[in-house]
Amino acid sequence: MSKSMIAVIGGTGAEGSGLVVRWAAAGYPVLIGSRSQEKAQAAAAELSALLPAGSATVRGETNAEAAAAANIIVLSVPYTSQAETAAQIAAASQGKLVITVVVPLKPPKVSVVWRPEAGSAAQELQQQLGDTVQIVAAFQNIAAGHLRDLEWQPECDVLYTGDHKEAKIVARELIQAAGFVGVDAGPLANASVVEGLTALLIGINARHKVPNSGIRITGIAR
Ligand SMILES: NC(=O)c1ccc[n+]([C@@H]2O[C@H](COP(=O)([O-])OP(=O)(O)OC[C@H]3O[C@@H](n4cnc5c(N)ncnc54)[C@H](OP(=O)(O)O)[C@@H]3O)[C@@H](O)[C@H]2O)c1
Repeated sequence: MSKSMIAVIGGTGAEGSGLVVRWAAAGYPVLIGSRSQEKAQAAAAELSALLPAGSATVRGETNAEAAAAANIIVLSVPYTSQAETAAQIAAASQGKLVITVVVPLKPPKVSVVWRPEAGSAAQELQQQLGDTVQIVAAFQNIAAGHLRDLEWQPECDVLYTGDHKEAKIVARELIQAAGFVGVDAGPLANASVVEGLTALLIGINARHKVPNSGIRITGIAR
């Protein structure tokens, strides 16, 4: 059966580009979304060169066009540009699954937990896009560092949250396709905790002088 088309909005960036590589290698056709179609196409060419034979195609488009053409949309932009970017994909995202990897960080103290008024960036996104959009928050705790390296075996888990059962099943499949164990962390309201953990990990990285600390849940079947 053919796999769903994924649009990675901000797939030109550190985190999004790693996910693009992993999903394309797992057979999902990917559209990279960018504010600039030229930038998206250049990123698609660069990432396609990293893919093993038999991978799905990667193409570049503007954010709105990528979102319109895909069945599943992934939002991977800095929190400060979340609202502006969400406005570009709002029409195209109605009725679809939107996976957000966004973490709200408040410079300069990015190792201190900071929450937007809605409780989390994911809830703020849900408010902006409306109720027909099925939001799942995931990958907040996965550092971009090794994502493009398909030989890398992750030790960390992906905690995912959301309010729509079917959407969470699809999101879990994508988490597994990217090479991770997905752990259902409950409703979207819990995204506030998962997003907050990233600030802790940034501080742990600094104190332990490591680039990519992560979270792994113990006591569950794998
Ligand atoms: N990096 C990590 O290790 C990591 C880990 C977990 C979660 N996250 C979260 O994932 C999201 C993406 O992180 P990232 O490190 O990939 O970010 P990034 O590389 O700084 O930016 C990602 C993309 O967002 C777009 N963008 C950047 N600045 C923008 C602006 N001012 N206005 C509109 N669009 C802008 C750009 O795409 P175009 O120029 O092509 O439009 C850029 O390539 C963030 O919310 C981050 O907190 C990151």
